[in-house]
Amino acid sequence: MISIENVTVQYPNGQLGLRKLSLTIPGQHLVFISGPSGAGKTTLAKLLALRIRPTEGRITVADNDLDELQGRQIARYRRSIGSIFQDMPLLENKTVGENVALPLLINKNVKTDMIQQVSNTLDVVGLRNKLNYSPIDLTDSEQQRVRIARAIVTKPTLIIADEPTINMDPQLSIKIMQIFKRLADRKLTVVVTTHDRTHLADPRNPVIEMQGGQVFDAMQGVVRRRAR
Ligand SMILES: Nc1ncnc2c1ncn2[C@@H]1O[C@H](COP(=O)(O)OP(=O)(O)O)[C@@H](O)[C@H]1O
Ligand SMILES: [Mg+2]
Repeated sequence: MISIENVTVQYPNGQLGLRKLSLTIPGQHLVFISGPSGAGKTTLAKLLALRIRPTEGRITVADNDLDELQGRQIARYRRSIGSIFQDMPLLENKTVGENVALPLLINKNVKTDMIQQVSNTLDVVGLRNKLNYSPIDLTDSEQQRVRIARAIVTKPTLIIADEPTINMDPQLSIKIMQIFKRLADRKLTVVVTTHDRTHLADPRNPVIEMQGGQVFDAMQGVVRRRAR
């Protein structure tokens, strides 16, 4: 479970990313963060990935009080989650398999079965046959699936994806969201920001609506779940 209490983010230019945001994100679900452009979705995703810190307020992820993490603990926390952000491109001079293996190498938990681990992870996103391809030779949606594989190869319990289906046609974006749903079925906590409303109809997935750096109706998705 993720708890966000009274969190404000003010950027150096004075702009507010979040305004006294409080919400709870249930664990082991696929949870959507939706809302119009400028609502604060990316700011929230970056906070959860510990890429930025709040100006005010408190964030707890599982039992980690993010405010208390310092030095090496910050790097360790970042490595412990799987993140998919638009500004984290694939390395074009490496193969798909090498891209997916990278977090394993960085985490220094390389095992003799690393190739197996990478292939199995590519299986999850349906790209085992592209192991030795260059990312340049894949479609945009295949590249996004490689990024998902790279995010989950270390078996994190929390995945954060910021607008993972942006610019994708509806059919492909449904396929991407199905991957996230399957991960949530395996008891992972998956937080996906999107302003694509087509994905928000499934009552099993809580939706947190944001607007102007605040929650619009935090309980909507959760209440709907309980009502069934
Ligand atoms: N690096 C930044 N510097 C200044 N303002 C920013 C920065 N990033 C986001 N903002 C502002 O914070 C608010 C929330 O932005 P963002 O989190 O990117 O929203 P969303 O992802 O929902 O479009 C917007 O008003 C945006 O202009
Ligand atoms: Mg955004």
